[in-house]
Amino acid sequence: MTKTSFKPRVFSGIKPSGGLQLGNYLGAIKRWVDMQGPNFETVYCVVDLHAITVWQDPAELAAGTREIAAGMLASGIDPEKSILFNQSRVSAHAELGWIFNCVARVGWMDRMTQWKDKAGKNAEKQSLGLYAYPSLMAADILLYHATHVPVGEDQKQHVELTRDIAAKFNHDYKTEFFPLTTPVIEGPAMRVMNLRDGTKKMSKSGESDMERINMTDDADTISKKLKKARTDPAPLPETLEGLAGRPEARNLVDIYAALSDRTAEQVIAEFAGAGWGTFKPALADLAVEKLAPISVEMKRLMADPAEIDRILRKGAERARAIAEPILARTYEIVGLQRG
Ligand code: TYM
Repeated sequence: MTKTSFKPRVFSGIKPSGGLQLGNYLGAIKRWVDMQGPNFETVYCVVDLHAITVWQDPAELAAGTREIAAGMLASGIDPEKSILFNQSRVSAHAELGWIFNCVARVGWMDRMTQWKDKAGKNAEKQSLGLYAYPSLMAADILLYHATHVPVGEDQKQHVELTRDIAAKFNHDYKTEFFPLTTPVIEGPAMRVMNLRDGTKKMSKSGESDMERINMTDDADTISKKLKKARTDPAPLPETLEGLAGRPEARNLVDIYAALSDRTAEQVIAEFAGAGWGTFKPALADLAVEKLAPISVEMKRLMADPAEIDRILRKGAERARAIAEPILARTYEIVGLQRG
């Protein structure tokens, strides 16, 4: 097979369920934007097939897919530089996902901590799709022979499983067809925490809207949420070690660092000894400066859904051009006849 590019390929995706929050932006999208350019070929996907592993209202799913795409565009994903599309437009994802269902082992799925957390004691009532989800995720990545997968900390185990699936496929079929993938988990905000409880991850679902920053929040809301974020009474320490055992304080420092493209050490050096009355307004101002324009741009883009669809459709065509030959070769390797 001829290689379409010599640049290493990046693939990553985001589920269109429940909108975008700051963790998606800092842990994923902001870094995807930074990876665009001469060093990588970048492929970014709104993974709608993953979303339906739990119930989605059809109209909300369609709107949510466009909203996530709008968030990615507003954050700086450039459809000229990157391939941006939604997963269900490229049927090869589901097809390779099936083949990987037959490669991956049940025991591997049982070990996935996200499955354990989501299914809890109610595993028997969950969809089969939710259980097999990591195998579809491996298909998403390997369908493009992607080697670099920028994700937040919570996806690390799934990306590692992708390596196991590639390795087992290669071993079973005596080939080196699928590359071994590396999770790219770098920077200060790989696990953005809940603003009300620093021991829980920030997520799209959750009891109170005050727990998270939504990428659609306006300037006043962003500022209010950060100023009201839970903290402890102590001032900021002189060194990063001084934040040990202070999860809420650590989280706000990490968010500041990620938004200002600095390290947590640099932020601590600047604010050593400062109280929350100093740090929180500085953080709120920084967050408003960086995030409010994205929220305004998202709303502008969402007012023209036909344009978003056009971009996704075009992206899907480009994605298919890479994915279909890889799927065809996979079918051949497995001995499935389509000719
Ligand atoms: P999803 O939709 O839950 O999240 C999308 C991305 O956002 C990151 N993220 C966070 N990062 C830091 N702090 C947080 N609080 C936070 N919350 C979310 C996630 O780590 C992720 O990078 N299974 C994936 C989607 C997926 C995918 C793929 C990713 C499907 N196929 C192939 C990479 C490659 C998911 O549910 O992400």
